Amino acid sequence: MTDSWATFGADLHLELRGPGLRSGLMEALREAVRTGRLAPGTRLPSSRSLAADLGIARNTVADAYAELVAEGWLTARQGSGTRVARRAAPRSGPAAVHRAPARGGAARAEPVPPRRPPVRPPVRRSATHTLHPGTPDLGSFPRGEWLKAARRALASAPHEALGYGEPHGRVELRTALADYLARARGVHADPDRIVICSGFVHGLRLMAQVLRDRKVREVAVESYGLDVHWDLLAGAGLGTPPLPCDERGTRTGGLDRQGALLITAAHQFPLGGALPPDRRAAAVDWARRTGAVILEDDYDGEFRYDRQPVGALQGLDPERVVYLGTASKSLTPGLRLGWMVLPEDLVGDVLAAKGHAEWVSSALDQLTLAEFIRSGAYDRHVRGMRLRYRRRRDQLVAALAERAPGIRVSGIAAGLHAVLELPPGTERSVVQAASWQGLAVQGLDRFRHPAVPPGRDALVVGYATPTDSAWSGALDALCRALP
Ligand SMILES: Cc1ncc(COP(=O)(O)O)c(C=O)c1O
Repeated sequence: MTDSWATFGADLHLELRGPGLRSGLMEALREAVRTGRLAPGTRLPSSRSLAADLGIARNTVADAYAELVAEGWLTARQGSGTRVARRAAPRSGPAAVHRAPARGGAARAEPVPPRRPPVRPPVRRSATHTLHPGTPDLGSFPRGEWLKAARRALASAPHEALGYGEPHGRVELRTALADYLARARGVHADPDRIVICSGFVHGLRLMAQVLRDRKVREVAVESYGLDVHWDLLAGAGLGTPPLPCDERGTRTGGLDRQGALLITAAHQFPLGGALPPDRRAAAVDWARRTGAVILEDDYDGEFRYDRQPVGALQGLDPERVVYLGTASKSLTPGLRLGWMVLPEDLVGDVLAAKGHAEWVSSALDQLTLAEFIRSGAYDRHVRGMRLRYRRRRDQLVAALAERAPGIRVSGIAAGLHAVLELPPGTERSVVQAASWQGLAVQGLDRFRHPAVPPGRDALVVGYATPTDSAWSGALDALCRALP
């Protein structure tokens, strides 16, 4: 982080345009200078840091910088890095046309007219930053390690792996996951009981179908969560009565005739706590007593900062709990890979719901993830990201203490987001104020189940979402928007 874009205080959303990466980057930088988004004198991040942020080769950035120096947009000096030229304008091209010399006079270049200071848009800026929860830092996806794993996996894959697969998913991945989940999450996992799916949402959809076929009518949910999950259950014909919650989390003692429960036990989404032991036990007792099924959404269980991650609820009763995991937080949502660890009597139904072949998940991605886990790269990546996210969380807490001392922050022991308590009645205006700062941020109300009355005012801040280069700008905009 020592030479990152963020440390220089400049942050910029760069959209690479055009066919080539180098020319796309050059045009994006010219555009940023032209419109004043990059002011004269601004120091640019090192080529290494910008290359990492954009996920392109360092040489591509170095070449683009060198050409822009040659064109006069940037300057490069030993010791002071690459900066936007004081009077940035191309040496050739329309803004710096050399006038024809007066007849008989010496050829003299017309000086470039002084540029006007950049005009700051007076009104609402489009969102430059986002602190929505739900996405990891996509700039940190371990591209190099992933490619190496893909190469090894493909080189050793049997021909058979390239055909239509079994709905179960690749045995290599199920075996690697069984070992990892037992070790890291306390899951009772047998490869035969694991079914690969396309992210959590696909696993939930399969379970909704199976539950409906088993005449379940209602899946109890938490008071706060994601509407896409509730909508998906409703779309399968299932009611989603919310359970009440208090400062200790979801109250599972009131579970009754519902046939299933969907819960984020290790880290409530979005409020942030771990379900206390007595409430875990109450949920499992209820499921045993009534024959109900618990759907455990373990979306970010690896990321706990104060102590060992809370083990999965599934460990308490593997015959009553369906464990659903995903690569969306630990690696990237773009992979669309998830896994279900099922009670024995559900395996057949889930496989039948999936169809007679693997239609959704790529065998090559499955083999790559298997190799990635088996080789230790997954553990290394998660450990590295845990450190990174903890650093961001600490920076968030420190910035709030200094610049918005009235704001209480909670839900910070784990995961990739925090909850910022706001004065009553201010949530909407703060979200609005943030958008004027070019910051997209979501209020807690956005995650409230429609059957739950409005509660406290708060923001749900996803501090993992920006890339390193955008993080400090996003944090700054957040502090400016807070009351
Ligand atoms: C609460 C919760 N569950 C699950 C997921 C993961 O969903 P998927 O694996 O379908 O990407 C997310 C991701 O944002 C989430 O916030």
